[in-house]
Amino acid sequence: MATTNAAGTRYSSAPSFRGLTDEYPASVATPQTGIFALGTMSHAHLELDERRGADARELVRLVASLREPRTTIGGVNLVAGFRPELWASVAPGASPLRLVGFNEPIVGADGYTLPATQHDVVVWLAGAAYDVVFDVSRGVVSALAAHATLAHEMVGWPYHRDLDLTGFIDGTENPTLVEATEAAIVEPGLPGEGGSVLLLQQWEHDAAPWESLPVAQQEQVIGRRKLEGDELDPKPATSHVARTDQDQFGQIFRRNIGYGTLTRHGTIFVGFSRDRERLDAMLDSMSARGGGQRDRLTDFARAVTGAYYFVPSSEALATFAAEPLD
Ligand code: HEM
Repeated sequence: MATTNAAGTRYSSAPSFRGLTDEYPASVATPQTGIFALGTMSHAHLELDERRGADARELVRLVASLREPRTTIGGVNLVAGFRPELWASVAPGASPLRLVGFNEPIVGADGYTLPATQHDVVVWLAGAAYDVVFDVSRGVVSALAAHATLAHEMVGWPYHRDLDLTGFIDGTENPTLVEATEAAIVEPGLPGEGGSVLLLQQWEHDAAPWESLPVAQQEQVIGRRKLEGDELDPKPATSHVARTDQDQFGQIFRRNIGYGTLTRHGTIFVGFSRDRERLDAMLDSMSARGGGQRDRLTDFARAVTGAYYFVPSSEALATFAAEPLD
């Protein structure tokens, strides 16, 4: 049976979801491995919108079937996620409670705004070089074309190994790979186990004013030494690391990457968390929504996109791939 929402989107009814439910318990729920596959030199983040009138269940099935043999993705890691409401419509009870998309902009005390540009599907591809990532990206868009259209794409590349385009080391306070599971993955027994909440944002840097700041002042903005990466003691309350302090907000796992050209470039923020709350709290703190002081980094970088996706476990996703096609 299918139902249609106000936008004319047709959703299949959900009773045949054979995922991580009491009725059909899965023996394991492992995260999509690409989340933790560090060291790749070329990235593409594709965000797609469901076609008007498309069937959400068919779309999820196509996404779940993107791996071989349908598409040749040799050598490229693929991580797939969904607008939380879309995933919940086909897999009820298989994502964190109350998880919704980035549906409203975040407006800070002085009007500083983090935009909401939510899409329906995200596919993150990472490989050794852009030629293979490009080929796989085209294959993905073509495989999904009947049900979804490409709405936004970003191509990312690491800048001098582990720097972001401010010239600072990015990722110093990331949890180790052992700790990252606890920070980023929904724990066993909870709805959505083995899955992860992804915050994906494109941040464009304002290079000229940033580069005209003396290094000592840049360090006050970030809250760390530029060359060594050591945290300042004391660090300004407005510094980026003070506004996102994981001791206060909880740990997340970041896979940020640089993007862009000489004229427009910046940071693709790729943050994985076991829940949305800690990511929201960091964004509130950075933008000073609800009071406090705005993150100084926001004077030199501005978010131009923002979306939350649920990245289901490999098993939950594979459940759909295993379904026979209509
Ligand atoms: C232009 C965008 C951004 C840039 C260039 C950037 C850069 C950095 C840098 C250089 C550090 C210090 C080194 C480190 O620990 O990794 C850092 C720390 C951090 N950033 Fe960002 N960041 C950006 C946006 C964000 C956003 C949007 C969030 C959260 C939603 C975030 C969360 C964090 C966290 C949690 C830390 C570690 C804080 C701690 O010390 O516990 N960042 N970032």
